[in-house]
Amino acid sequence: SMFLPLCFYLYSSIELLFPGEPYSVSVLKVGYCRPGADGSFRADGTVSLLTGPQTILVDTGGPWDRDFLLACLRDRGLDPADVDWVVGTHGHSDHIGNLNLFPGARLIVGYDWSEGDTYRQNPLARGLPVSIDPHVSVLPTPGHTGQDVSVRVDGTVAGTVLVAGDLFECCSDEDSWRDVSLNPAVQEVSRQEALRTADLIIPGHGPPFRVLRRGPVQGPGAGGGPVQEPGARGGPVWGPGGPVQGWG
Ligand SMILES: [Fe+2]
Repeated sequence: SMFLPLCFYLYSSIELLFPGEPYSVSVLKVGYCRPGADGSFRADGTVSLLTGPQTILVDTGGPWDRDFLLACLRDRGLDPADVDWVVGTHGHSDHIGNLNLFPGARLIVGYDWSEGDTYRQNPLARGLPVSIDPHVSVLPTPGHTGQDVSVRVDGTVAGTVLVAGDLFECCSDEDSWRDVSLNPAVQEVSRQEALRTADLIIPGHGPPFRVLRRGPVQGPGAGGGPVQEPGARGGPVWGPGGPVQGWG
């Protein structure tokens, strides 16, 4: 298997800030999903902020996160009006609950790109990315819903970061992601492409994880496809930091 997620966190703490040039990525809230006793779930989506030439918020959490989100921005000296772009990775309520805070932002939610009430033609539905600038692009990564997008940021200390929404629930999600997938076959393709191209993945309901690459990257025509045998992701790679702590 060539690509493996790394499910441990250095120094027993979760990394939430990934400085970069020109963009830094910070995870404002680590999403979670916890089953209740009665078949319900408590869930919230991961919220991430990209700061650089543009200020880009990726997912807004649920409506209950309003004050939290405003405080996070304020802590960074930002007013909601300073956010240039808001990307909703998909249209679920725990990811796009606070769009209303950003009426002036350029908005991408799933495959919709709008500014105010003006909807722009864009290539996402044709399977092509929207480039925000040379360092940040919005990629179609469908499967969880029909119109998921992920945000790719190049040039961070962690390499290429993919803010992936619910393309990945969390690092070791092999037992769970299909249960909440509209189209697992399509999502599996999106996931493999993500694992092939990203160094760090920020999932929708868990902390960031690194992708471990072994050996040379296969190019087109190298024979064989990507990437990993079935079950390769099933076994999380635990390192000296031990299991996750301190989140949720
Ligand atoms: Fe979600």
